[in-house]
Amino acid sequence: MSQAEYAILAPDGVNEEVSTATMNVLLIGSGGREHALAWKIARSSHFTRLLSVPGNTGTGRYGQNVPFPLNDLEALVDLGQREDINLVVVGPDNPLADGIADAFSAAGIPTFGPKAAAARIESSKSFAKEIMAATGVPTAAAHVFDSPAEAAAFAQQSGQPWVVKADGLALGKGVVVADDLPATLAAIARLGATPAGKRLLLEERLEGRELSVMALCDGERLLPLPTARDHKRLGEGDTGPNTGGMGVVAPVDEVTPALLDQIVNSCMQPVVNELAARGTPFRGVLYAGVILTRAGPRILEFNARFGDPEAQAVLPLLEGDFLEVLYDCAVGNLHPETLRRRKGYAVCVVLCAEGYPGKPRTGDPIRGVEAVDDEQVLIFHAGTAIGPAGLCTAGGRVIGVTGLGSTLARARARAYEIAERVAFEGKHYRKDIGAE
Ligand code: AMP
Ligand code: GLY
Repeated sequence: MSQAEYAILAPDGVNEEVSTATMNVLLIGSGGREHALAWKIARSSHFTRLLSVPGNTGTGRYGQNVPFPLNDLEALVDLGQREDINLVVVGPDNPLADGIADAFSAAGIPTFGPKAAAARIESSKSFAKEIMAATGVPTAAAHVFDSPAEAAAFAQQSGQPWVVKADGLALGKGVVVADDLPATLAAIARLGATPAGKRLLLEERLEGRELSVMALCDGERLLPLPTARDHKRLGEGDTGPNTGGMGVVAPVDEVTPALLDQIVNSCMQPVVNELAARGTPFRGVLYAGVILTRAGPRILEFNARFGDPEAQAVLPLLEGDFLEVLYDCAVGNLHPETLRRRKGYAVCVVLCAEGYPGKPRTGDPIRGVEAVDDEQVLIFHAGTAIGPAGLCTAGGRVIGVTGLGSTLARARARAYEIAERVAFEGKHYRKDIGAE
């Protein structure tokens, strides 16, 4: 790791006493991201007990899964109080937008994940644009419309194609990069008919390579994690439909320490400052979807949570007490020096079920997972379950295989060796993650 990168991860401050001696953690979510979070949290010296709601096969290895509905906040808070929870860690976006952090904070339970007002940076794209405009954060120019008819009229008038976005949360299906005007109008009609698309954005199309920058935040300070590149399209060479993410490389070599500094200081810190100034500080992980244009980095979107599968590649690259840092963020007292970056690379390859990203086939037995005996390979469960015949598929993205290595090539080779060996009917995955 270069001196400059180290400086970004550990800017200032002295180590104070550890936050708390023992910790009962409530983890919200059920994907590969949550398995990675559970794995990392369980390695903390403060870790005592994990409850996952609803959890999955992976999180179940570190504690108890509780099959609770995520929309009953009162019952969840009640569970947190009964179980003496010291920290809630929220994986997915929907509960944040619904105010899960507000509910737990009101009950005095620290929560890693922003309250609903700050989570709007993800749950409302027009709100994110407004914040970026107010703070001068570089992003694509956008026009906001409160009805599909107005958006369509504007597009017709302009005579050109636009990137069409639904304002609200849409499970990663709320964006269409239209190539021509008819496709733009079709996207307006389709997204405008969804609940997330009551309000629509028409955005200028930017060109460049994409990058995910996640940074832990305590409401004021940001601690950037290693950079990551997701591969969102289903097919090799970035072809085919969009997915939740087919694989990730971390860190991204083309991002120099100076460029990361620029992204953090000119694209992310102003947003954190603005949310704090409005009385809605952001505590959690701020995820910037960045596109590197010829004119410099531009923000495509913000998320208020860890990316999935980004977390499966980035968390294994961290050293230091992760749980302690999550707690410190939740209580507004981040000590950036608690975490360090491990040397080397991580490559995560997502193994998918037949049918994904459409309706996946489930219930197929999975073989070869328990045989993995390599310290440099991690298996994260996403859509798996224990059926009568043992481990089986239970979702679209089934398993993430993360290979680690001192070089990208080694990390990649390890991930693919195991990706090939894990077997289930209908398995498919991209063969070109980290290939360029
Ligand atoms: P978003 O959820 O806003 O990040 O959009 C999903 C994907 O759509 C991004 O990862 C980009 O590949 C693409 N995209 C979004 N906005 C733009 C834009 N303004 N120009 C080009 N591509 C975009
Ligand atoms: N992998 C993209 C996301 O989590 O939003």
